[in-house]
Amino acid sequence: MRRMMWMPALGTLAALARVPAFATDGKAIYESTCKRCHDSGVMGAPKISDKAAWKNRVAQGQASLGEHAIRGFKHMPPRGGNPELSDDDVKAAIKYMLQNLE
Ligand code: HEC
Repeated sequence: MRRMMWMPALGTLAALARVPAFATDGKAIYESTCKRCHDSGVMGAPKISDKAAWKNRVAQGQASLGEHAIRGFKHMPPRGGNPELSDDDVKAAIKYMLQNLE
């Protein structure tokens, strides 16, 4: 019981810190880090809603996508500019973005 009461508190803390440290929640990571570019297409970022743009990128393989997002690629900053994100965090955010294409 005590444990269950802690869970929402932890969730709130993660939201405040804007870095989900405990869970690899792709959506939360997308919203805190990736959205500012990938929602509106800043500097040519493929928009989350632009299926055609993502199809071309997915064609190169997901491993390569992950590598580009982690190391940076042209105007895409390494880890979306958030060094606190782990490789898995970045991959979870990509997964969330790609889910919108299916
Ligand atoms: C400062 C703006 C910015 C932020 C923040 C950002 N991106 Fe990007 N992203 C870009 C741009 C610009 C490109 C397009 C690069 C190109 O091909 O010219 C891109 C491309 C990508 C690609 C495609 C790479 C490829 O190989 O084609 C992936 C995947 C990606 N971003 C994931 C993410 C993830 C995940 C996050 C959050 C953790 C994120 N981005 C945050 C600007 C951003």
